[in-house]
Amino acid sequence: MKNIDPTKTEAWKKLEKHFLEIRELEMKNLFQEDPQRSEDLKIEWEDFYVDFSKNRITVKTQEILLKLAEECGLKEAIKSYYDGDAINKTENRPVLHTALRVPKDEEVFIDGKNVIPEVYQAKDKIRKFSTEVINGALKGHTGLAFTDIVNIGIGGSDLGPTMVTESLKFYKNHLNLHYISNVDGDHVHETLQELNPETTLFLIVSKTFTTQETLSNANTARDWFKKAAPSEAVSKHFVAVSSNIEKVKDFGIDPENIFPMWDWVGGRFSLWSAVGLSISLAVGFEQFDELLMGAHEMDVHFKGADLKDNIPVNLAMLSIWYNNFFKAESEAVIPYTQYLQKLPSYLQQAIMESNGKSTDRNGKPVSYETGNIIWGEPGTNSQHAFFQLIHQGTKLIPADFIGFKHSLHNDKDHHQKLMANYFAQTEALLMGKTAEEVIKELEEKNLSSEEIEKLTPFKVFKGNKPTTSILINKLTPASLGKLIAMYEHKIFIQGVIWNIYSYDQWGVELGKQLATEILTEIQKSDVQNHDSSTKSLLKFFLK
Ligand code: F6P
Repeated sequence: MKNIDPTKTEAWKKLEKHFLEIRELEMKNLFQEDPQRSEDLKIEWEDFYVDFSKNRITVKTQEILLKLAEECGLKEAIKSYYDGDAINKTENRPVLHTALRVPKDEEVFIDGKNVIPEVYQAKDKIRKFSTEVINGALKGHTGLAFTDIVNIGIGGSDLGPTMVTESLKFYKNHLNLHYISNVDGDHVHETLQELNPETTLFLIVSKTFTTQETLSNANTARDWFKKAAPSEAVSKHFVAVSSNIEKVKDFGIDPENIFPMWDWVGGRFSLWSAVGLSISLAVGFEQFDELLMGAHEMDVHFKGADLKDNIPVNLAMLSIWYNNFFKAESEAVIPYTQYLQKLPSYLQQAIMESNGKSTDRNGKPVSYETGNIIWGEPGTNSQHAFFQLIHQGTKLIPADFIGFKHSLHNDKDHHQKLMANYFAQTEALLMGKTAEEVIKELEEKNLSSEEIEKLTPFKVFKGNKPTTSILINKLTPASLGKLIAMYEHKIFIQGVIWNIYSYDQWGVELGKQLATEILTEIQKSDVQNHDSSTKSLLKFFLK
């Protein structure tokens, strides 16, 4: 991968100049001046329609942004990514979650070895196991079929599977899925109290099998289980997904019941591996595989499409435009379906753990902004919560609006209302409402001129707020796979342009280390040397 300071490129300098021409432009005028705008700034691909035209760009902006991508070596970087080069340099690993979703006859080499047979061996194990649990062939220790599945994991070993299971709830079978992640004992105990140990299956998901939260929860679950069942029964009710075989065996899990993970798949990109076992249990292996195949289609698109027609490339470059030139601090993701309610929190880890970095690939501090802050909630709920700030606040918040042509329960009336809101919000954010329009409206309501004068400033909407509409035919396992892969590639591209390493997460270590030390102090009731604030808080806690 090239190692380039993006701010030193020709394209960046052009963008700085171009920004001065663009920043005051009103999108609504751009639409009026250019009848082709919505055609030129959209991509239709398979069941996706992605409209970039409600962004503060012109075709020229797009051209320079794509030049920046080229100057930063994006095309070569994409090749390195798919070829399995060790692009995660600080951990000396390739980044190959894309290999988990290729068709069986393809080959992907790591250190000269084709890893696809291993991937398919694991997929077969997932298929067999989930099918037998779903159809009741695999039973608990008293001969009863499983009714409840508990996934114990955190971060990437939780967020992806939870989000996908929730998103595909419509396709779910009879099994009840539970996710325990937080080390907060109230989380595990609250969940366990509903369960019957005879019919509960635990999946302990941890790549390292050293994560404090996961091991504490797994131990608590095992203790709870052993209160009701003999020790030998543990092997029938506990399985693990991990790359740390020794530690899993130490925990008491049958080696036959270990599903593999590889160090070339990062935790936050691992839902496509056996980390997604709970997804396969919830919706069946066929649908899990469709999710993977959808993601693969997006991989093929990303790898092969010209930069101009490339959905992840355009999304990523727009995000850089707002982050680095408009100085927007955050981005909102607003899915117009309740099923995608967990997508924003999943994306928070994927995006913020990846690109929340301030050291460039030379080990030097970056002189420009990186990682975006991601947040969001489904529409229309979010309209009644934080949209006020997006419409009339002081901050610029570019937002992705994700909508679907068809609903899943086919309630036409509800879906028309939902989608009317989807279209109305992006139009309102674009057009705003002028003082003249406000005055006219108030006059029609027969308000006095005094009242009109007083109220008008509060009722004006500046508009010109950027949105990208991602309109998809229907929420299916395949379209969800495409959507997730789209964001994964966006993360990769932004890491390339910002010249940072997106695939490590050293920033989560310090807090973990300190927590281990403080835990000993709490257990011994012996507060050691800390800053005076922490010391006082600890003393108050222990008193
Ligand atoms: O939050 C840090 C992190 O390492 C994540 O990247 C990872 O997804 C999570 O912890 C869980 O790790 P593990 O799967 O090893 O338990």
